[in-house]
Amino acid sequence: MSRVLFEHPAALSATAWIALAALVVAGCAKGDATTPARSATLELPSAPWVSRAVPEARGDVTTRPDGRRQAVRYRGWSTEDFGRFRTYAYDDQRLEPAPGKAIMPAGPGDAAKGRRLFLDRNLGPCTGCHLIQGEDVWPAGSVGPDLSAYGDRNLPDEHIFSMIYDPRHLFPQSLMPPWGTDGVLKPEDIVDVVAFLKTQKSPLPPETNPERNPATRPRPVGFGDNLDPTNNPAVVRAEDAADLWATKGPAGTACADCHAGGPAAAMKGVATRYPRYVAAYRRVMALEDFLAVHGPEATGTALPVESAANVDLTVLVKMASNGMPVALDLAAPEHAAALERGKRSFYRRVGQRNHACADCHTTEGGKGADKFLGGRLLADVEVGLTRHFPTWRTSQADVWDMRKRMQWCMTPLGTNMLAADAVEYAELELYLASFDVGKPLSVPGIRH
Ligand code: HEC
Ligand code: HEC
Ligand code: HEC
Repeated sequence: MSRVLFEHPAALSATAWIALAALVVAGCAKGDATTPARSATLELPSAPWVSRAVPEARGDVTTRPDGRRQAVRYRGWSTEDFGRFRTYAYDDQRLEPAPGKAIMPAGPGDAAKGRRLFLDRNLGPCTGCHLIQGEDVWPAGSVGPDLSAYGDRNLPDEHIFSMIYDPRHLFPQSLMPPWGTDGVLKPEDIVDVVAFLKTQKSPLPPETNPERNPATRPRPVGFGDNLDPTNNPAVVRAEDAADLWATKGPAGTACADCHAGGPAAAMKGVATRYPRYVAAYRRVMALEDFLAVHGPEATGTALPVESAANVDLTVLVKMASNGMPVALDLAAPEHAAALERGKRSFYRRVGQRNHACADCHTTEGGKGADKFLGGRLLADVEVGLTRHFPTWRTSQADVWDMRKRMQWCMTPLGTNMLAADAVEYAELELYLASFDVGKPLSVPGIRH
Protein backbone atom coordinates (compact mmCIF):
# COMPACT_ATOMS: atom_id res chain seq x y z
CA MET A 1 0.00 0.00 0.00
CA SER A 2 2.65 2.53 0.93
CA ARG A 3 4.54 1.57 -2.23
CA VAL A 4 1.87 3.53 -4.13
CA LEU A 5 2.40 6.54 -1.92
CA PHE A 6 6.07 6.63 -2.82
CA GLU A 7 5.36 6.58 -6.51
CA HIS A 8 3.02 9.50 -7.08
CA PRO A 9 3.77 11.90 -4.27
CA ALA A 10 3.11 15.13 -6.14
CA ALA A 11 -0.37 14.01 -7.06
CA LEU A 12 -1.56 13.87 -3.46
CA SER A 13 -3.07 17.01 -2.01
CA ALA A 14 -2.43 17.86 1.62
CA THR A 15 -5.97 16.85 2.54
CA ALA A 16 -5.65 13.54 0.75
CA TRP A 17 -2.42 12.95 2.62
CA ILE A 18 -3.97 13.65 6.02
CA ALA A 19 -6.94 11.45 5.13
CA LEU A 20 -4.60 8.64 4.11
CA ALA A 21 -2.56 8.99 7.26
CA ALA A 22 -5.76 8.80 9.31
CA LEU A 23 -6.85 5.69 7.43
CA VAL A 24 -3.57 3.96 8.02
CA VAL A 25 -3.54 4.83 11.71
CA ALA A 26 -7.13 3.63 12.03
CA GLY A 27 -6.22 0.45 10.15
CA CYS A 28 -3.44 -0.25 12.64
CA ALA A 29 -5.65 0.41 15.63
CA LYS A 30 -8.22 -2.09 14.41
CA GLY A 31 -5.49 -4.67 13.85
CA ASP A 32 -6.50 -5.04 10.20
CA ALA A 33 -6.38 -8.75 9.43
CA THR A 34 -4.70 -8.19 6.05
CA THR A 35 -1.74 -6.43 7.67
CA PRO A 36 1.07 -8.87 8.52
CA ALA A 37 1.94 -8.99 12.21
CA ARG A 38 5.08 -7.15 13.25
CA SER A 39 7.19 -7.36 16.35
CA ALA A 40 7.07 -4.41 18.73
CA THR A 41 10.44 -2.95 17.76
CA LEU A 42 9.63 -3.25 14.07
CA GLU A 43 6.48 -1.16 14.55
CA LEU A 44 6.37 1.22 11.60
CA PRO A 45 6.59 4.99 11.98
CA SER A 46 3.06 6.25 12.52
CA ALA A 47 2.41 7.65 9.04
CA PRO A 48 3.50 6.82 5.50
CA TRP A 49 5.58 9.53 3.91
CA VAL A 50 4.86 11.30 0.64
CA SER A 51 8.23 12.08 -0.92
CA ARG A 52 9.19 15.72 -1.33
CA ALA A 53 12.29 14.85 -3.36
CA VAL A 54 13.06 15.90 -6.94
CA PRO A 55 11.68 13.29 -9.39
CA GLU A 56 15.03 11.60 -10.06
CA ALA A 57 15.57 11.05 -6.32
CA ARG A 58 12.28 9.31 -5.49
CA GLY A 59 13.30 5.76 -6.27
CA ASP A 60 10.54 5.37 -8.86
CA VAL A 61 10.52 2.46 -11.26
CA THR A 62 8.72 2.83 -14.59
CA THR A 63 7.67 0.34 -17.25
CA ARG A 64 8.96 0.99 -20.78
CA PRO A 65 6.78 0.42 -23.87
CA ASP A 66 8.52 -2.94 -24.40
CA GLY A 67 7.43 -4.02 -20.93
CA ARG A 68 10.87 -3.79 -19.32
CA ARG A 69 11.10 -2.13 -15.93
CA GLN A 70 13.51 0.77 -15.64
CA ALA A 71 14.61 2.63 -12.54
CA VAL A 72 14.41 6.43 -12.49
CA ARG A 73 17.67 7.73 -11.02
CA TYR A 74 20.02 10.71 -11.30
CA ARG A 75 21.44 11.59 -14.70
CA GLY A 76 24.37 9.31 -15.52
CA TRP A 77 23.38 6.66 -12.94
CA SER A 78 22.46 3.11 -13.89
CA THR A 79 18.76 2.59 -14.69
CA GLU A 80 18.90 -1.14 -13.98
CA ASP A 81 15.87 -2.37 -12.04
CA PHE A 82 16.87 -4.53 -9.07
CA GLY A 83 13.23 -5.14 -8.12
CA ARG A 84 13.78 -8.84 -7.51
CA PHE A 85 16.13 -8.17 -4.62
CA ARG A 86 15.46 -6.97 -1.07
CA THR A 87 15.50 -3.26 -0.27
CA TYR A 88 15.55 -1.14 2.87
CA ALA A 89 11.81 -0.40 2.63
CA TYR A 90 10.12 -1.26 5.93
CA ASP A 91 7.25 -2.82 4.00
CA ASP A 92 9.62 -5.08 2.06
CA GLN A 93 9.17 -8.25 4.09
CA ARG A 94 10.99 -10.61 1.75
CA LEU A 95 13.45 -12.83 3.55
CA GLU A 96 17.14 -12.95 2.82
CA PRO A 97 17.68 -15.66 0.16
CA ALA A 98 18.60 -18.99 1.80
CA PRO A 99 22.16 -20.25 1.22
CA GLY A 100 22.20 -22.01 -2.15
CA LYS A 101 24.02 -25.09 -3.34
CA ALA A 102 24.86 -26.52 -6.77
CA ILE A 103 26.55 -29.68 -8.00
CA MET A 104 29.99 -28.77 -9.29
CA PRO A 105 30.08 -29.30 -13.09
CA ALA A 106 32.83 -31.66 -14.27
CA GLY A 107 36.15 -29.98 -15.06
CA PRO A 108 38.74 -29.25 -16.13
CA GLY A 109 38.27 -25.51 -15.63
CA ASP A 110 39.96 -22.90 -17.80
CA ALA A 111 42.40 -21.11 -15.50
CA ALA A 112 43.02 -18.20 -17.90
CA LYS A 113 39.30 -17.53 -18.20
CA GLY A 114 38.99 -17.90 -14.43
CA ARG A 115 41.58 -15.16 -13.96
CA ARG A 116 39.68 -12.85 -16.34
CA LEU A 117 36.49 -13.48 -14.38
CA PHE A 118 38.33 -12.80 -11.11
CA LEU A 119 39.40 -9.37 -12.39
CA ASP A 120 36.15 -8.48 -14.22
CA ARG A 121 34.89 -5.16 -12.90
CA ASN A 122 31.35 -5.95 -13.99
CA LEU A 123 31.26 -9.02 -11.75
CA GLY A 124 32.92 -8.91 -8.31
CA PRO A 125 35.42 -7.77 -8.91
CA CYS A 126 36.98 -10.40 -6.71
CA THR A 127 40.10 -8.23 -6.59
CA GLY A 128 38.01 -5.59 -4.80
CA CYS A 129 38.54 -7.74 -1.71
CA HIS A 130 41.31 -10.26 -2.55
CA LEU A 131 44.91 -9.84 -3.69
CA ILE A 132 46.26 -12.30 -6.27
CA GLN A 133 49.56 -12.43 -8.19
CA GLY A 134 50.25 -10.12 -11.14
CA GLU A 135 51.45 -6.59 -11.85
CA ASP A 136 48.14 -5.83 -13.60
CA VAL A 137 46.12 -6.42 -10.44
CA TRP A 138 45.05 -2.92 -9.52
CA PRO A 139 43.57 -1.88 -7.24
CA ALA A 140 43.25 -4.96 -5.06
CA GLY A 141 41.52 -4.72 -1.69
CA SER A 142 42.14 -6.38 1.65
CA VAL A 143 38.58 -6.95 2.91
CA GLY A 144 38.98 -10.68 2.15
CA PRO A 145 42.08 -12.85 2.65
CA ASP A 146 45.08 -12.53 0.33
CA LEU A 147 44.72 -15.41 -2.16
CA SER A 148 48.18 -15.02 -3.80
CA ALA A 149 49.32 -18.43 -2.50
CA TYR A 150 45.89 -20.03 -2.07
CA GLY A 151 46.90 -23.00 -4.28
CA ASP A 152 49.48 -24.04 -1.65
CA ARG A 153 46.63 -25.14 0.59
CA ASN A 154 45.61 -27.92 -1.81
CA LEU A 155 41.97 -27.63 -0.81
CA PRO A 156 39.48 -29.93 -2.54
CA ASP A 157 37.92 -28.31 -5.63
CA GLU A 158 34.40 -28.91 -4.30
CA HIS A 159 35.22 -27.02 -1.13
CA ILE A 160 36.45 -23.97 -3.04
CA PHE A 161 33.51 -24.23 -5.43
CA SER A 162 30.93 -24.21 -2.69
CA MET A 163 32.74 -21.43 -0.82
CA ILE A 164 32.48 -19.20 -3.90
CA TYR A 165 28.97 -20.38 -4.78
CA ASP A 166 27.72 -19.38 -1.33
CA PRO A 167 30.11 -18.80 1.59
CA ARG A 168 27.27 -18.79 4.13
CA HIS A 169 27.38 -22.59 4.47
CA LEU A 170 30.74 -22.23 6.21
CA PHE A 171 30.51 -18.63 7.44
CA PRO A 172 26.86 -17.71 8.12
CA GLN A 173 27.80 -14.05 8.65
CA SER A 174 30.15 -13.91 5.66
CA LEU A 175 30.45 -10.53 4.03
CA MET A 176 31.41 -12.14 0.74
CA PRO A 177 28.41 -12.10 -1.62
CA PRO A 178 26.92 -15.50 -2.52
CA TRP A 179 28.13 -15.40 -6.14
CA GLY A 180 26.30 -18.52 -7.30
CA THR A 181 23.07 -18.11 -5.33
CA ASP A 182 22.68 -14.48 -6.45
CA GLY A 183 23.30 -15.40 -10.10
CA VAL A 184 26.40 -13.24 -10.66
CA LEU A 185 28.50 -16.30 -11.59
CA LYS A 186 27.25 -19.45 -13.32
CA PRO A 187 28.48 -22.82 -11.95
CA GLU A 188 30.69 -23.25 -15.07
CA ASP A 189 32.30 -19.85 -14.38
CA ILE A 190 33.07 -20.90 -10.83
CA VAL A 191 34.82 -24.05 -12.12
CA ASP A 192 37.12 -21.77 -14.14
CA VAL A 193 37.78 -19.56 -11.12
CA VAL A 194 38.61 -22.64 -9.01
CA ALA A 195 41.12 -23.75 -11.69
CA PHE A 196 42.68 -20.30 -11.61
CA LEU A 197 42.94 -20.17 -7.81
CA LYS A 198 44.81 -23.51 -7.87
CA THR A 199 47.56 -21.76 -9.90
CA GLN A 200 48.19 -19.25 -7.11
CA LYS A 201 51.27 -20.82 -5.50
CA SER A 202 54.38 -19.72 -3.68
CA PRO A 203 57.10 -18.60 -4.05
CA LEU A 204 55.59 -15.17 -4.72
CA PRO A 205 57.35 -12.93 -7.23
CA PRO A 206 59.17 -10.00 -5.57
CA GLU A 207 56.93 -6.96 -5.04
CA THR A 208 58.07 -4.05 -7.24
CA ASN A 209 55.33 -1.57 -6.27
CA PRO A 210 54.28 -1.20 -2.62
CA GLU A 211 50.94 0.28 -3.78
CA ARG A 212 49.96 -2.97 -5.49
CA ASN A 213 49.63 -4.83 -2.22
CA PRO A 214 46.98 -3.37 0.12
CA ALA A 215 49.04 -4.58 3.09
CA THR A 216 51.91 -2.23 2.16
CA ARG A 217 49.93 0.47 0.33
CA PRO A 218 50.18 3.89 2.00
CA ARG A 219 46.90 4.96 3.59
CA PRO A 220 45.29 7.91 1.80
CA VAL A 221 45.78 11.34 3.34
CA GLY A 222 43.09 14.05 3.72
CA PHE A 223 41.97 16.75 1.35
CA GLY A 224 43.32 19.87 3.04
CA ASP A 225 41.28 22.49 4.91
CA ASN A 226 37.66 21.75 4.06
CA LEU A 227 36.53 25.24 5.07
CA ASP A 228 38.97 27.05 2.78
CA PRO A 229 36.89 28.26 -0.22
CA THR A 230 39.90 28.04 -2.56
CA ASN A 231 40.17 24.37 -1.63
CA ASN A 232 36.49 23.42 -1.30
CA PRO A 233 34.06 24.72 -3.95
CA ALA A 234 31.11 23.79 -1.72
CA VAL A 235 31.88 26.74 0.55
CA VAL A 236 31.01 29.03 -2.36
CA ARG A 237 27.68 27.25 -2.82
CA ALA A 238 26.67 28.33 0.68
CA GLU A 239 27.00 31.91 -0.50
CA ASP A 240 24.23 31.26 -3.05
CA ALA A 241 22.11 30.05 -0.18
CA ALA A 242 22.71 33.30 1.69
CA ASP A 243 20.80 35.06 -1.16
CA LEU A 244 18.01 32.51 -0.92
CA TRP A 245 17.81 33.12 2.82
CA ALA A 246 17.04 36.80 2.20
CA THR A 247 14.73 36.38 -0.84
CA LYS A 248 10.98 36.56 -0.29
CA GLY A 249 9.02 33.59 -1.61
CA PRO A 250 5.50 33.57 -3.16
CA ALA A 251 4.03 33.77 0.36
CA GLY A 252 5.70 37.17 0.77
CA THR A 253 8.13 35.99 3.44
CA ALA A 254 11.84 35.17 3.49
CA CYS A 255 13.73 32.98 5.93
CA ALA A 256 15.30 36.19 7.22
CA ASP A 257 11.90 37.66 8.16
CA CYS A 258 11.19 35.08 10.85
CA HIS A 259 14.73 34.02 11.76
CA ALA A 260 16.33 37.35 12.63
CA GLY A 261 20.01 38.20 12.99
CA GLY A 262 21.42 36.49 9.87
CA PRO A 263 21.78 32.75 9.29
CA ALA A 264 24.97 32.32 11.34
CA ALA A 265 23.32 33.65 14.50
CA ALA A 266 19.74 32.50 13.88
CA MET A 267 20.75 28.92 13.04
CA LYS A 268 23.58 28.55 15.56
CA GLY A 269 23.45 25.06 17.12
CA VAL A 270 20.33 24.00 15.19
CA ALA A 271 22.13 21.41 13.03
CA THR A 272 23.67 19.71 16.07
CA ARG A 273 20.18 18.37 16.93
CA TYR A 274 19.44 16.76 13.53
CA PRO A 275 18.35 14.16 12.51
CA ARG A 276 15.59 14.31 15.08
CA TYR A 277 11.96 13.37 15.58
CA VAL A 278 9.80 16.31 14.48
CA ALA A 279 6.43 16.08 16.17
CA ALA A 280 4.63 18.19 13.53
CA TYR A 281 5.43 15.63 10.83
CA ARG A 282 5.48 12.59 13.11
CA ARG A 283 8.77 11.26 11.81
CA VAL A 284 12.53 11.50 12.12
CA MET A 285 13.93 14.16 9.81
CA ALA A 286 17.33 15.35 8.78
CA LEU A 287 17.62 19.07 8.00
CA GLU A 288 17.11 18.34 4.30
CA ASP A 289 13.81 16.56 5.02
CA PHE A 290 12.68 19.36 7.31
CA LEU A 291 13.52 22.19 4.91
CA ALA A 292 11.60 20.42 2.12
CA VAL A 293 8.36 20.82 4.10
CA HIS A 294 9.16 23.93 6.15
CA GLY A 295 10.40 25.99 3.18
CA PRO A 296 7.17 25.83 1.15
CA GLU A 297 5.00 26.17 4.26
CA ALA A 298 6.79 29.25 5.54
CA THR A 299 7.84 31.05 2.33
CA GLY A 300 5.91 29.39 -0.51
CA THR A 301 9.19 28.40 -2.19
CA ALA A 302 9.54 24.73 -3.09
CA LEU A 303 12.71 23.21 -1.63
CA PRO A 304 12.53 19.59 -2.76
CA VAL A 305 15.07 17.20 -1.29
CA GLU A 306 18.09 16.87 -3.63
CA SER A 307 17.39 20.20 -5.34
CA ALA A 308 20.40 22.53 -5.39
CA ALA A 309 18.49 25.05 -3.24
CA ASN A 310 17.75 22.46 -0.56
CA VAL A 311 21.34 21.22 -0.41
CA ASP A 312 22.76 24.76 -0.40
CA LEU A 313 20.46 25.89 2.41
CA THR A 314 21.36 22.77 4.36
CA VAL A 315 25.04 23.67 4.01
CA LEU A 316 24.26 27.23 5.16
CA VAL A 317 22.31 26.08 8.22
CA LYS A 318 24.92 23.46 9.15
CA MET A 319 27.81 25.90 8.79
CA ALA A 320 26.24 27.92 11.60
CA SER A 321 27.08 24.97 13.89
CA ASN A 322 30.60 24.27 12.67
CA GLY A 323 32.89 23.36 15.55
CA MET A 324 29.95 22.57 17.83
CA PRO A 325 29.53 18.97 18.99
CA VAL A 326 26.71 16.86 17.57
CA ALA A 327 24.08 16.87 20.34
CA LEU A 328 21.36 14.38 19.43
CA ASP A 329 19.04 13.50 22.27
CA LEU A 330 19.50 9.75 22.02
CA ALA A 331 17.57 9.13 25.24
CA ALA A 332 14.39 10.82 23.97
CA PRO A 333 11.59 8.23 24.01
CA GLU A 334 10.54 9.08 20.44
CA HIS A 335 14.09 8.26 19.29
CA ALA A 336 14.35 4.82 20.88
CA ALA A 337 12.30 2.84 18.35
CA ALA A 338 13.69 4.86 15.44
CA LEU A 339 17.27 4.15 16.50
CA GLU A 340 16.44 0.47 16.81
CA ARG A 341 14.97 0.41 13.31
CA GLY A 342 17.97 2.36 11.96
CA LYS A 343 20.30 -0.16 13.53
CA ARG A 344 18.36 -3.04 12.01
CA SER A 345 18.73 -1.42 8.59
CA PHE A 346 22.46 -1.03 9.17
CA TYR A 347 22.77 -4.77 9.73
CA ARG A 348 20.14 -5.82 7.18
CA ARG A 349 21.54 -7.66 4.18
CA VAL A 350 19.93 -6.42 0.98
CA GLY A 351 20.20 -6.56 -2.76
CA GLN A 352 21.84 -8.90 -5.20
CA ARG A 353 25.08 -8.69 -3.22
CA ASN A 354 23.31 -9.53 0.02
CA HIS A 355 25.42 -6.84 1.69
CA ALA A 356 24.79 -4.90 4.89
CA CYS A 357 26.21 -1.44 5.62
CA ALA A 358 27.95 -3.16 8.54
CA ASP A 359 29.97 -5.35 6.14
CA CYS A 360 31.94 -2.35 4.96
CA HIS A 361 31.60 0.20 7.76
CA THR A 362 32.36 -1.67 10.99
CA THR A 363 35.43 -3.50 12.23
CA GLU A 364 33.28 -5.96 14.24
CA GLY A 365 34.27 -9.59 13.68
CA GLY A 366 36.93 -8.63 11.13
CA LYS A 367 34.48 -6.81 8.86
CA GLY A 368 35.59 -4.31 6.21
CA ALA A 369 36.12 -0.94 7.91
CA ASP A 370 39.72 0.30 7.92
CA LYS A 371 40.52 -2.13 5.12
CA PHE A 372 40.80 -1.46 1.41
CA LEU A 373 37.87 -2.19 -0.89
CA GLY A 374 39.75 -1.91 -4.17
CA GLY A 375 41.69 1.32 -3.79
CA ARG A 376 39.26 2.83 -1.22
CA LEU A 377 39.89 2.70 2.49
CA LEU A 378 36.53 1.93 4.13
CA ALA A 379 35.35 4.41 6.74
CA ASP A 380 34.37 3.13 10.20
CA VAL A 381 30.92 4.09 11.50
CA GLU A 382 32.39 4.49 15.01
CA VAL A 383 34.67 7.26 13.76
CA GLY A 384 31.61 8.97 12.27
CA LEU A 385 30.24 9.03 8.74
CA THR A 386 27.87 11.98 8.96
CA ARG A 387 29.18 15.20 10.46
CA HIS A 388 30.91 16.50 7.31
CA PHE A 389 27.79 16.16 5.14
CA PRO A 390 26.84 17.75 2.78
CA THR A 391 30.28 17.21 1.36
CA TRP A 392 32.13 18.16 -1.83
CA ARG A 393 32.98 15.06 -3.81
CA THR A 394 36.09 15.63 -5.90
CA SER A 395 35.24 12.56 -8.04
CA GLN A 396 31.78 13.97 -8.84
CA ALA A 397 32.61 17.71 -8.83
CA ASP A 398 29.45 18.34 -6.84
CA VAL A 399 28.09 18.76 -3.33
CA TRP A 400 26.34 15.65 -2.07
CA ASP A 401 24.19 15.38 0.99
CA MET A 402 24.00 12.25 3.10
CA ARG A 403 21.00 10.82 1.28
CA LYS A 404 22.55 11.02 -2.15
CA ARG A 405 25.60 9.25 -0.72
CA MET A 406 23.34 6.52 0.64
CA GLN A 407 21.46 6.22 -2.64
CA TRP A 408 24.80 5.96 -4.45
CA CYS A 409 25.72 2.95 -2.29
CA MET A 410 22.51 1.16 -3.42
CA THR A 411 23.60 0.37 -7.00
CA PRO A 412 26.77 -1.58 -6.11
CA LEU A 413 24.68 -3.44 -3.53
CA GLY A 414 22.23 -4.35 -6.30
CA THR A 415 19.14 -2.93 -4.62
CA ASN A 416 16.70 -0.27 -5.78
CA MET A 417 17.10 3.02 -3.98
CA LEU A 418 14.30 4.48 -1.87
CA ALA A 419 13.20 8.10 -2.07
CA ALA A 420 15.96 10.37 -0.78
CA ASP A 421 13.66 11.56 2.03
CA ALA A 422 12.35 8.10 2.93
CA VAL A 423 11.78 7.53 6.64
CA GLU A 424 13.94 4.40 6.35
CA TYR A 425 16.96 6.48 5.33
CA ALA A 426 16.24 9.13 7.97
CA GLU A 427 16.26 6.51 10.74
CA LEU A 428 19.36 4.84 9.32
CA GLU A 429 21.00 8.27 9.27
CA LEU A 430 19.94 8.85 12.89
CA TYR A 431 21.68 5.59 13.81
CA LEU A 432 24.84 6.57 11.89
CA ALA A 433 24.79 10.04 13.44
CA SER A 434 24.49 8.54 16.93
CA PHE A 435 28.20 7.66 16.61
CA ASP A 436 28.98 11.31 15.91
CA VAL A 437 27.50 12.61 19.18
CA GLY A 438 30.05 14.79 20.98
CA LYS A 439 32.19 15.23 17.86
CA PRO A 440 32.32 18.61 16.09
CA LEU A 441 30.42 19.41 12.90
CA SER A 442 32.60 20.47 9.97
CA VAL A 443 30.45 21.30 6.94
CA PRO A 444 30.89 21.23 4.00
CA GLY A 445 33.37 18.36 4.00
CA ILE A 446 35.55 17.35 1.09
CA ARG A 447 36.09 13.74 0.02
CA HIS A 448 37.01 11.69 -3.02
C1 HEC B 1 33.22 -7.70 -0.48
C2 HEC B 1 34.44 -8.46 -0.33
C3 HEC B 1 34.65 -9.74 -1.11
C4 HEC B 1 34.52 -9.90 -2.47
C5 HEC B 1 34.11 -8.87 -3.50
C6 HEC B 1 34.95 -11.26 -2.72
N1 HEC B 1 35.27 -11.89 -1.56
FE1 HEC B 1 35.98 -13.79 -1.39
N2 HEC B 1 36.03 -13.57 0.64
C7 HEC B 1 35.76 -12.41 1.32
C8 HEC B 1 35.95 -12.66 2.74
C9 HEC B 1 35.76 -11.64 3.85
C10 HEC B 1 36.35 -14.00 2.86
C11 HEC B 1 36.68 -14.76 4.14
C12 HEC B 1 35.53 -15.58 4.60
C13 HEC B 1 34.55 -14.77 5.41
O1 HEC B 1 34.93 -14.13 6.39
O2 HEC B 1 33.38 -14.77 5.05
C14 HEC B 1 36.39 -14.52 1.51
C15 HEC B 1 36.78 -15.82 1.21
C16 HEC B 1 37.00 -16.30 -0.06
C17 HEC B 1 37.52 -17.61 -0.36
C18 HEC B 1 37.92 -18.64 0.67
C19 HEC B 1 39.23 -18.30 1.25
C20 HEC B 1 39.63 -19.32 2.31
O3 HEC B 1 40.36 -18.94 3.21
O4 HEC B 1 39.24 -20.49 2.19
C21 HEC B 1 37.59 -17.71 -1.71
C22 HEC B 1 38.09 -18.89 -2.51
C23 HEC B 1 37.08 -16.48 -2.25
N3 HEC B 1 36.73 -15.65 -1.22
C24 HEC B 1 36.94 -16.22 -3.59
C25 HEC B 1 36.33 -15.08 -4.11
C26 HEC B 1 35.97 -14.90 -5.49
C27 HEC B 1 36.22 -15.91 -6.59
C28 HEC B 1 35.42 -13.68 -5.61
C29 HEC B 1 34.83 -12.98 -6.84
C30 HEC B 1 33.80 -13.73 -7.53
C31 HEC B 1 35.43 -13.08 -4.28
N4 HEC B 1 35.98 -13.97 -3.41
C32 HEC B 1 34.97 -11.82 -3.99
C33 HEC B 1 35.36 -11.21 0.77
C34 HEC B 1 35.11 -10.99 -0.55
C1 HEC C 1 6.86 32.68 8.67
C2 HEC C 1 7.98 32.55 9.53
C3 HEC C 1 9.09 31.63 9.08
C4 HEC C 1 9.74 31.67 7.87
C5 HEC C 1 9.49 32.56 6.69
C6 HEC C 1 10.75 30.65 7.95
N1 HEC C 1 10.71 30.04 9.16
FE1 HEC C 1 11.95 28.59 9.80
N2 HEC C 1 10.87 28.41 11.49
C7 HEC C 1 9.80 29.18 11.84
C8 HEC C 1 9.23 28.67 13.06
C9 HEC C 1 8.03 29.25 13.79
C10 HEC C 1 9.99 27.55 13.40
C11 HEC C 1 9.76 26.61 14.56
C12 HEC C 1 10.47 27.03 15.73
C13 HEC C 1 10.49 25.87 16.64
O1 HEC C 1 9.44 25.30 16.91
O2 HEC C 1 11.59 25.47 17.02
C14 HEC C 1 11.02 27.42 12.42
C15 HEC C 1 12.01 26.46 12.46
C16 HEC C 1 13.05 26.38 11.57
C17 HEC C 1 14.14 25.47 11.67
C18 HEC C 1 14.33 24.39 12.73
C19 HEC C 1 14.88 24.98 13.98
C20 HEC C 1 15.16 23.92 15.03
O3 HEC C 1 15.65 24.29 16.10
O4 HEC C 1 14.89 22.73 14.80
C21 HEC C 1 14.97 25.71 10.61
C22 HEC C 1 16.25 24.96 10.28
C23 HEC C 1 14.37 26.77 9.86
N3 HEC C 1 13.22 27.15 10.45
C24 HEC C 1 14.90 27.28 8.71
C25 HEC C 1 14.22 28.16 7.87
C26 HEC C 1 14.65 28.50 6.54
C27 HEC C 1 15.92 28.00 5.86
C28 HEC C 1 13.72 29.33 6.02
C29 HEC C 1 13.67 29.89 4.63
C30 HEC C 1 13.55 28.92 3.55
C31 HEC C 1 12.71 29.54 7.06
N4 HEC C 1 13.06 28.79 8.15
C32 HEC C 1 11.63 30.35 6.93
C33 HEC C 1 9.34 30.27 11.15
C34 HEC C 1 9.71 30.61 9.88
C1 HEC D 1 30.52 -3.21 -0.27
C2 HEC D 1 30.95 -2.19 0.62
C3 HEC D 1 29.99 -1.11 1.05
C4 HEC D 1 28.76 -1.27 1.61
C5 HEC D 1 28.00 -2.56 1.86
C6 HEC D 1 28.32 0.05 1.98
N1 HEC D 1 29.26 0.99 1.65
FE1 HEC D 1 29.27 2.92 2.20
N2 HEC D 1 31.04 3.19 1.27
C7 HEC D 1 31.73 2.22 0.60
C8 HEC D 1 32.91 2.81 0.00
C9 HEC D 1 33.94 2.10 -0.85
C10 HEC D 1 32.91 4.16 0.37
C11 HEC D 1 33.96 5.22 0.02
C12 HEC D 1 35.11 5.08 0.98
C13 HEC D 1 34.70 5.51 2.36
O1 HEC D 1 34.56 6.70 2.60
O2 HEC D 1 34.42 4.62 3.20
C14 HEC D 1 31.72 4.36 1.18
C15 HEC D 1 31.38 5.56 1.77
C16 HEC D 1 30.25 5.76 2.54
C17 HEC D 1 29.92 7.00 3.18
C18 HEC D 1 30.74 8.28 3.12
C19 HEC D 1 31.77 8.27 4.19
C20 HEC D 1 32.51 9.58 4.29
O3 HEC D 1 33.30 9.70 5.24
O4 HEC D 1 32.30 10.49 3.47
C21 HEC D 1 28.75 6.81 3.83
C22 HEC D 1 28.00 7.83 4.65
C23 HEC D 1 28.36 5.45 3.60
N3 HEC D 1 29.29 4.83 2.80
C24 HEC D 1 27.22 4.89 4.09
C25 HEC D 1 26.81 3.61 3.82
C26 HEC D 1 25.56 3.07 4.26
C27 HEC D 1 24.53 3.82 5.08
C28 HEC D 1 25.51 1.79 3.83
C29 HEC D 1 24.37 0.82 3.94
C30 HEC D 1 23.14 1.31 3.38
C31 HEC D 1 26.75 1.54 3.11
N4 HEC D 1 27.51 2.67 3.11
C32 HEC D 1 27.11 0.32 2.56
C33 HEC D 1 31.42 0.88 0.53
C34 HEC D 1 30.28 0.31 1.06
